[in-house]
Amino acid sequence: MPNPKVAVVTGASRGLGAAFARVLAEEGYALALGARTLSDLERVAASLDAPSLTHPLDVTVPGSVDAFREVTLARFGRVDALIVNAGIGLFKPLEAFTPQEFEQLFAVNVTGAWLTVRAFLEPLKAARGLVVMVSSDVSTRVFPTGGPYCATKFALRALARTLQLEHPELRVLELRPGATDTYFAGSEEGASGKEAYLKAATVAEALRFALRLPQDARLEELALRPAALEPVY
Ligand SMILES: NC(=O)c1ccc[n+]([C@@H]2O[C@H](COP(=O)([O-])OP(=O)(O)OC[C@H]3O[C@@H](n4cnc5c(N)ncnc54)[C@H](OP(=O)(O)O)[C@@H]3O)[C@@H](O)[C@H]2O)c1
Repeated sequence: MPNPKVAVVTGASRGLGAAFARVLAEEGYALALGARTLSDLERVAASLDAPSLTHPLDVTVPGSVDAFREVTLARFGRVDALIVNAGIGLFKPLEAFTPQEFEQLFAVNVTGAWLTVRAFLEPLKAARGLVVMVSSDVSTRVFPTGGPYCATKFALRALARTLQLEHPELRVLELRPGATDTYFAGSEEGASGKEAYLKAATVAEALRFALRLPQDARLEELALRPAALEPVY
């Protein structure tokens, strides 16, 4: 049996990251799963039928990201897909943010994404791999209370495009989900009021599409919005 392809997922302990991990396992990938809460990660890994490792990861801490890379390479020796998914949300008027809250959004959603890509770049290049930047449908639009969060996703879009230009041997996908029923921004999966939201498993089908697409195409961007909600652009 040839060695399976290897995928790395940040923020894999719940929500979209856990759904991405499930699809990657179904598609035959071995998995390196990172997030801060190891017990949740282990629960996700145990539910998957795939070789997997779990490792505590705080994407805001360079040493933590590098340690995650080291254990991944020690166990699997290669990285074919990187899902840059870890992210947080906080929504209120601009003037209501504290400097700490503002900086934390950028630390996780932007600096954390950059640190993650930087850490895994060499093995990804060796594999001519796929990088999926999980931004949002708000990487090109804004709304009241969403300023700092949208700014982080605009920034992620810029990083994704720059990464593609600088490393044409990679395939960089900006995956842009609309409102999705997860634990995002302190919510609970299945909480009332989110009935019309996308399911995390539905968004993960977009990843499956990207994984299965013949490699002569570079899928650059995929946006999904809940069909049950009014379109917004
Ligand atoms: N839900 C939506 O409506 C929606 C829409 C568009 C885009 N997105 C994006 O989708 C991504 C996943 O969000 P989600 O909806 O699945 O939210 P979620 O259910 O809250 O999951 C967030 C994940 O990120 C991890 N995480 C948070 N801070 C981290 C850190 N410093 N280091 C490492 N991991 C960290 C969390 O685990 P720990 O807390 O254990 O670290 C968790 O696994 C985010 O980038 C979000 O912006 C979400």
